[in-house]
Amino acid sequence: MAEETLDLRGVPKPDAYHQLEAHIRAVLAGVRDDVAAMATMSALIHHAFGHLWTGFYRVVKPGELLRVGPYQGTLGCLEIRVGRGVCGTAAAEHRTVIVPDVQDFPGHITCDARSRSEIVVPVTGRAGALIAVLDIDSDQVGTFDDEDRRGLEHIVRWFTTESE
Ligand code: SME
Repeated sequence: MAEETLDLRGVPKPDAYHQLEAHIRAVLAGVRDDVAAMATMSALIHHAFGHLWTGFYRVVKPGELLRVGPYQGTLGCLEIRVGRGVCGTAAAEHRTVIVPDVQDFPGHITCDARSRSEIVVPVTGRAGALIAVLDIDSDQVGTFDDEDRRGLEHIVRWFTTESE
């Protein structure tokens, strides 16, 4: 099972996230490596739902700067200032930000012009500090809701409990 890449389009979200998290944890069993986890999560989340862009921005200067990490999709911008764009807002406020329509989010940073909606989830490390954000873009308006927030926040708890 661990070698598969699940396609969960059409599966109700709570069930989809349940399957996805179980799969991610099975693939990562015995691994304590943040980069391997970010790469694995990006690939599996991206292909499970057919998203436009799925990946991580890592905190490289706490409170100041995020830099791109493992991702799937077209070229992502390299660095984002904390407080800027959707990613920087989620990092500054340490909360999940859901943007149903990117045109309504002042300061949204466009990496791929096809992006229409977005969710950014903060990632907390073992020591309790923010270590990254998980950013997902969709080419449809209104893709993400509270069920995505719950499912993704649960998946990234891996970094609080299992990371290096
Ligand atoms: N849209 C994001 C920038 C990152 S890309 O979407 C990959 C933002 O506003 O923070």
